[in-house]
Amino acid sequence: MKKLAILISGRGSNMKAIAESCQNGVLKNIAQVTIVISNKLNAKGLQTAKDLGIPTFAIESKSITRKEFDQKVLTLLKATKVDYILLAGFMRRLTKGFTDTFPKKIINIHPADTNQHRGLGAYEWAWKNQLPSTKITVHYVNDKIDDGQIIAQADVDLREAKSLQEVEAKGLAVEHQFFAQALKTIFEK
Ligand code: GRF
Repeated sequence: MKKLAILISGRGSNMKAIAESCQNGVLKNIAQVTIVISNKLNAKGLQTAKDLGIPTFAIESKSITRKEFDQKVLTLLKATKVDYILLAGFMRRLTKGFTDTFPKKIINIHPADTNQHRGLGAYEWAWKNQLPSTKITVHYVNDKIDDGQIIAQADVDLREAKSLQEVEAKGLAVEHQFFAQALKTIFEK
């Protein structure tokens, strides 16, 4: 069983989807979420993780340096001995020291084609440009934003979407299935 840490900053719907798929879906008997870490004390996803019986930690990143924050996370992860670190709505760049410690072990989900759009506001970008479709990207993480090697991409059909909310809803529905599927492929290699 692969032990997973999930880093979040907010809502945590992707974290929830991964945890549920470990409990009862495509990642059952393949992976388990052993720790959820948030860089925001009030992240909604912390309660969601607790409700799923997952140990949670919050390390407020606001008033410490990037290096200090990463060091604290590293200490927690070393104690938990995780195999993979998933970024699921984790809105923070990691230092090179951190990403180099876990080569090909840190994986992010980004709601666009990272060759076309990186950083915040991916669904807004798709909506504003009236894209007929967008992509969800699962990729390895380096110290730059949404920059690492692409693992897999899924298409999201946006032709029927009539508002930004609908774009997001369609995208998230794909994210929640696709992240676990992409991980399964990696874990079974
Ligand atoms: C998702 O769209 C994810 O792809 C992006 O941030 C959003 C986080 O949502 N990186 P949630 O916290 O997983 O609900």
